Amino acid sequence: MYKIAVAGTGYVGLVAGVCFAEVGHKVICVDIDEKKVDLMKSGIVPFYEPGLEDLMIKNYAAGRIDFTTDYMQAYREADTIFIGVGTPEREDGSANLSYIANVARQIAESIIKDCLIVVKSTVPVGTNDKVEQFIKDFLVNDVRVEVASNPEFLAQGSAVNDTLNAERIIIGTESNWAEQVLKSIYKPYNIPIISVSRRSAEMIKYASNNFLALKISFINDIANLCELVNADIQEVTLGMSFDSRIGNKFLNAGIGYGGSCFPKDTKALDYLAKQFGYELKTVKATMDVNKEQQTKLFKKASQRLITFNNIKVAILGLTFKPGTDDLRESASLVNVPLLLEHGANIFAFDPIGAKNFAKIYPEGKNRNGTIAYVENVEQALIGASICFIFTEWDEVKEIPPEKFKKLMQTPIVYDGRNIYKIDNMSEVGVEYHSIGRNK
Ligand code: UGA
Repeated sequence: MYKIAVAGTGYVGLVAGVCFAEVGHKVICVDIDEKKVDLMKSGIVPFYEPGLEDLMIKNYAAGRIDFTTDYMQAYREADTIFIGVGTPEREDGSANLSYIANVARQIAESIIKDCLIVVKSTVPVGTNDKVEQFIKDFLVNDVRVEVASNPEFLAQGSAVNDTLNAERIIIGTESNWAEQVLKSIYKPYNIPIISVSRRSAEMIKYASNNFLALKISFINDIANLCELVNADIQEVTLGMSFDSRIGNKFLNAGIGYGGSCFPKDTKALDYLAKQFGYELKTVKATMDVNKEQQTKLFKKASQRLITFNNIKVAILGLTFKPGTDDLRESASLVNVPLLLEHGANIFAFDPIGAKNFAKIYPEGKNRNGTIAYVENVEQALIGASICFIFTEWDEVKEIPPEKFKKLMQTPIVYDGRNIYKIDNMSEVGVEYHSIGRNK
């Protein structure tokens, strides 16, 4: 078993650390934020991720995982250091690598024995080469260091399961030593390990996320055409999915993709290609389609109603997908300001994300409208003239069609997640609009 230090306790770092501990490694998680470290020591995960807290508490109690701000001590004792800090998007679309650089510098100043540094964060191709050189330039002691790439494929909301039952583990190494160390760290996972070069590993991460985003934009594009030619996207994807070359995943048409990964990684890959004088036309199309898709329902509804001014609008779901409190690049963040601009009185429900949303749009008057956050779907729907569904939370999926009819002043529903059967809604008198279906 290895002594592993993990830099960064966000989704990537903390989930990786907890899972390493779960399979028996001795893990120390490093974060610069003292409050976060104290929270984790007291058994609280600083963000919402189902199942993670229990596993963290269990492994902390068993002495397999600990948390610290003392990076020097942590890195000094580690056989391997995983870097899982963020690589947020810069204004020009490139990845901001300053957090990685900070950690690399701390590692260089701390380590006193041979050490493998593993980058889990999503970084542009070639970054690992630079990180290795950077660490070597700043090394204080005469030790062997090598950097390996080990991109992360977990999705928020199912992070623990995605890690412990992943379909593959990608390791990008430049020496037999690094390859063997990573293979033995991951041996207990019993998951296929694909061993490639460092640059290929970096590319696999971007290519995978860009391909998934492309799938979503493609199906949204086809859904839009389905509406025009009176076909049904769900029937179309069902038929397509029986071809195993196409598969049945990531073909749900909707209000576009959000989150911290697809929007950022499409932009970063586009930026990288441009730097080499190449244009990734499919990636550009992916981004263009997604941008249009996010306001599709707002545009449709604007044509349907004369005005949103003083209209009660119910919004169901604010996060970019269920199972997370993350709002980054969510459809709600694009549509709420539009609705407020047009004078809407919004009543928003989200079981987990409302608190974060209220930090950006506090309750009360905003632009030409108002926004309030409610505790349940009923409070959002009662007296509303129009309802937008942005996130397919269980609480939303479970609303019986009659409830829209009974509670709303005018039961007009714009569903960005294709939750309901069209017939079930029309039977009870709900005017129902969804994506790529016959209405
Ligand atoms: C995504 C990838 O799925 C992970 O494999 C990857 O590791 C992660 O990014 C990352 O790079 O860190 P995540 O952003 O957490 O994970 O969420 P997804 O479940 O992929 O959903 C992303 C967005 O696509 C959501 O807004 C979701 O509603 C949308 N989506 C997904 C669709 O509109 N249609 C689909 O069929 C699937």
